[in-house]
Amino acid sequence: MKPVKVGVLGLGTVGGGTINVLQRNATEISRRAGREIIVTRASARNLDRERICDTQGISLTIDPLEIINDPEIDIILELIGGDTLAKDLVLIAISKGKHVVTANKALIALHGNEIFEQASAKGVMVAFEAAVAGGIPIIKALREGLSGNQIEWLAGIINGTGNFILTEMRDKGRDFADVLAEAQALGYAEADPTFDVEGIDAAHKLTILASIAFGIPLQFEKIFTEGITQITREDVNYAEELGYRIKHLGIARKTEAGIELRVHPTLIPHRRLIANVDGVMNAVLVKGDAVGPTLYYGAGAGAEPTASAVVADVVDVVRALTTDPENHVPHLAFQANSIEDIPILDAEEIKTAYYLRLNAEDKPGVLAEVTRILADHQISIEAIIQKEPHKGTTRLPVIMLTQMTLEKEMNAAIAEIEALDTIHDKVNRIRMETLG
Ligand code: HSE
Repeated sequence: MKPVKVGVLGLGTVGGGTINVLQRNATEISRRAGREIIVTRASARNLDRERICDTQGISLTIDPLEIINDPEIDIILELIGGDTLAKDLVLIAISKGKHVVTANKALIALHGNEIFEQASAKGVMVAFEAAVAGGIPIIKALREGLSGNQIEWLAGIINGTGNFILTEMRDKGRDFADVLAEAQALGYAEADPTFDVEGIDAAHKLTILASIAFGIPLQFEKIFTEGITQITREDVNYAEELGYRIKHLGIARKTEAGIELRVHPTLIPHRRLIANVDGVMNAVLVKGDAVGPTLYYGAGAGAEPTASAVVADVVDVVRALTTDPENHVPHLAFQANSIEDIPILDAEEIKTAYYLRLNAEDKPGVLAEVTRILADHQISIEAIIQKEPHKGTTRLPVIMLTQMTLEKEMNAAIAEIEALDTIHDKVNRIRMETLG
């Protein structure tokens, strides 16, 4: 059979890695796909830049449209990133009847509903395994491997840069900014690294996971998102002392009232496997009603781990080239006419446990006032630790763990606690999950 011709848009970390993997493993890949797969054309903004891949034999251009318009090209790999130009190019490619493989989480999270609708209308596939958790085949697992289950919840470390920062802070006492700079140099961080540290990148990925898990539309705007910039070494150490690790988690949970969608730093018991996922590694814990808890682990960023997922998608597309469109695996796991608008809960309706750190005046009755406020809001305390006063002051850190409560009760309690004369500074609150 004729080789399948692929056009690559973007020759950065992921584009370069993808070309390397396709070239190095060409024999194994064609044995799996049933056809030879060759990259014949590629585009980049600057053709003079040094690349991580060998582009010999690939026709290069600065104009991605030349590739999309080339009737010889069967599959377009969108590896540019961002959600403006990439969106236009993907929609044009679809309109020309090309299949698309993308690693672009922002594109899918923000515009996936429209893109999938157009792709289905044209009978083409848009594959996006590399958009979530780099090399971990989590889309495949959730969309196909777990299709017999009702997914109850999932929780994931889905941003490698953030996990790298938290790990280095804990293990080596390194500075936040210093570790972030290293993640950028290694090609892990987003073009705008605030996407990593403020949880936006994780929220893009959680949007996609939740949609596939529950058969709901992609709804990035409804995710409650909190970053890791407020996490101090002090909190990391107190959490350790109490038997917990702080991880930046994306959590999606189906409750009777609706679906919780949230990204925030989270204390988790250190004995959980996922609490021991360090550095740039990612992991996603998925709880299905039939299978129970399952854990997927691997490199969440980097050239070849991401390329691994892109190439797997290319193989899937090649295998399906001759199938009828109605027999393709649905983009969001559920048939398009079965996607349901299940309500997404407001942040205030989230139910979770909490770690609180207070800077309290060292005098009688202070803790009694704090515990009274918590009791007034039906919040039960699980543990309290009072530390030595800060050097040369009469103020001391008090750390509390609470049982599960509604976020709105906690917000109200914290506002009252912060208004006390005997409590200084803001209360530092970190949500806590047992993931049991
Ligand atoms: N910036 C992302 C991360 C890249 O650090 O996980 C992979 O999506």
